[in-house]
Amino acid sequence: MIREVLRMGDPRLWQKSLPVTRFNSPELNQLLQDMRDTMAHLNGAGLAAPQIGVQLRVVIFGVKSNPRYPDVEEVPDTVLINPELTPLSSEMEDGWEGCLSVPGMRGWVPRWKKLRYAGFDERGKRFKREVDGFHARVAQHEVDHLDGILYPMRIRDFTRFGFNEALFPGQELPAEE
Ligand code: NI
Repeated sequence: MIREVLRMGDPRLWQKSLPVTRFNSPELNQLLQDMRDTMAHLNGAGLAAPQIGVQLRVVIFGVKSNPRYPDVEEVPDTVLINPELTPLSSEMEDGWEGCLSVPGMRGWVPRWKKLRYAGFDERGKRFKREVDGFHARVAQHEVDHLDGILYPMRIRDFTRFGFNEALFPGQELPAEE
């Protein structure tokens, strides 16, 4: 079912979400289905459970390569539950981000360039991956949602935060997260 995505200003987006304790439950399966439906409906690159008002540590993300956005790297379709992020170097990298909870805007956000994420898939199997670049950026953006952090809170240069049409006149932009 397509769910409403909460927008910045809704106090539920500032809360810290709770770990999932039961896998393979009808509730978790339904949540994941709703998240997939909602993300697909909005052509999103990622979605975190609190964005649809569920305070659980569940995120999904995935980006197909698109010739229109050659700078955006492909990211595999991923379900990541109870995630832990570990930076693998002190190097940071800035890049543009958008968010389904902050629609129509973009900001220039510093993130760890390289990291390991670990967590559980939807069947409760633990896995980990070492990623960098855009994949690492998407993972950090989504996991931030679980701690009540939206990307504007990470921006340092507010001359690089604004409305899509003003920042990128006439351009089509890649997906929001
Ligand atoms: Ni977001």
